[in-house]
Amino acid sequence: MTAVPVVIGRRAPAAESRERAAVDPRGLVDTHGRVHRDLRISLTDRCSLRCTYCMPEQGNEWLARTSILSTDEIVEVAEVAAALGIRTFRLTGGEPLLRPDIVDVVRRISRIQGEDGPVEVAMTTNGISLAQKLPALIDAGLTRLNISIDTIDRQRFADLTRRDRLDDVFEGIAAAAASELRPLKLNAVAMRGVNDDQLADLVAFAMGVGAQLRFIEQMPLDAGHTWDRATMVTREEILEALGERWSLEPVPGRGGAPAEKWRIDGGPHEVGVIASVTAPFCGACDRLRLTADGQLRNCLFSNDEYDLTTLLRGEASVPGQRDDRIADLLRSCILGKLPGHAIDDPSFLQPARGMNAIGG
Ligand code: GTP
Ligand code: 5AD
Ligand code: SF4
Ligand code: SF4
Repeated sequence: MTAVPVVIGRRAPAAESRERAAVDPRGLVDTHGRVHRDLRISLTDRCSLRCTYCMPEQGNEWLARTSILSTDEIVEVAEVAAALGIRTFRLTGGEPLLRPDIVDVVRRISRIQGEDGPVEVAMTTNGISLAQKLPALIDAGLTRLNISIDTIDRQRFADLTRRDRLDDVFEGIAAAAASELRPLKLNAVAMRGVNDDQLADLVAFAMGVGAQLRFIEQMPLDAGHTWDRATMVTREEILEALGERWSLEPVPGRGGAPAEKWRIDGGPHEVGVIASVTAPFCGACDRLRLTADGQLRNCLFSNDEYDLTTLLRGEASVPGQRDDRIADLLRSCILGKLPGHAIDDPSFLQPARGMNAIGG
C-alpha cells in the first residue's frame, strides 16, 4: 500500500515528482532544491504558561491524549528521518518538559546514528522545571538548549504569560548557563507596548549569563488573530534600539539558520534577530515538523498536514515493517512544500493550529 497524505486545502504533490525525490541521494529534497536536515518534534501541546501571543486564557482546545504519539512511535519516525538525512532533532511543545518521559525521549533519539555520526538533539523550552531536569537531560544526550524569555520584568512577565513564574525561568536559565551546553540561546518575541522599550536590557541580561539573545519578529500565529503587520516590531526597529547602546557588526555565514547575527561592540557577545516577516529566510529553509498528534508539516504556516498516525496505528501496520511507508510520507510532505510562507499575500491564511500545537 502506498502512503496517502492528508491534504487540507491544497492539491497533493504529483506522483511523478514523488518518484523523482525517491531516488534523490541527498535525502529529503523539495521541488525548490532545498535539502532538509532539521526535524522539529512537538512532544505536547500543553504548556505551563499562557502567553497572550500564543494561547487564549481559557477554552483552549487541547489535543486528545490518545492522539499524542508514544515515544516508540516518535523514535520510529526519527530513525527513518535520520536515514533520509535529518541531522538535528529539535524537541518543542507546547512545553516539552511537561512530557513525563522527556528524559527517555532524549535518550532514545540521541542514540540514533545519522549519516555523519550521532544526531543532534536540541530543545526549545520556557525554562520552567528545567533546573530540576537538566542533569538527567544532559546525561541522556541533550546537546543544545533555547530558552524563551520575553521580559525580565516580573509584572510584565506575569501579564504576558498569565502566570507569575519568572523566578522559575531565571532558575532554569541559571542552570543552563552553569551547564556545558553551548551555544545557549534565549528567545524573545519583540512586542510593542510589552518589551519594545527594554530590548537592550534583555540583551544585557543574556550577556550577563553567557547566552545569545535572539529577538523574534512576531508572526501571525496568535490564538486571538490580533496580529497586525502595521504595528509589529520589525527587525529594523530592533537594530535601531540596540544601536543606541552598542555598535553592531554583522556576523557572516548564516547558512540555513533563521537568525541573522550581529557582534556586539566587537565581540565576543552576539545578538540575533529572527525576521520571519520582514526578511523571510524561506529560500534556505531546511526544516520540517512533526506535531504531537502525528501530523507532518512542511512549513510553520502550512495548511496541509500529512497523517503519520493512521500509518502508525492502522490495523495492518506492524512496527519494523513500515519504514518504507514512513519514508514515502516524509518525501510526499517535502514535495508538497511551497517556496515560502506568503504572509504578505492577500490570500494568506493563518494555520488552523495554534503555535503551541505546531511547536514553533
Ligand atoms: P536553532 O537551531 O538554534 O537556530 O533553533 P531555532 O531558532 O530554529 O529554534 P527555536 O525553537 O528557538 O525558534 C526560535 C524562533 O524561530 C521561533 O519563533 C520559531 O517559530 C522560529 N522558527 C524556527 N524555525 C523556523 C522556520 O523554519 N520558519 C520560521 N518562519 N520561523 C522559524
Ligand atoms: N511569533 C513568533 N514567535 C513565536 N513564538 C511563539 N509564538 C510566536 C509568534 N506568534 C516563539 C516562542 C518560543 C518559540 C518556540 O516560538 O516565544 O520562543
Ligand atoms: Fe507556552 Fe511557548 Fe506558547 Fe508561551 S509561547 S504559551 S511558553 S508554548
Ligand atoms: Fe521554512 Fe515555512 Fe519557515 Fe519559510 S515559513 S522558513 S518555508 S518553515
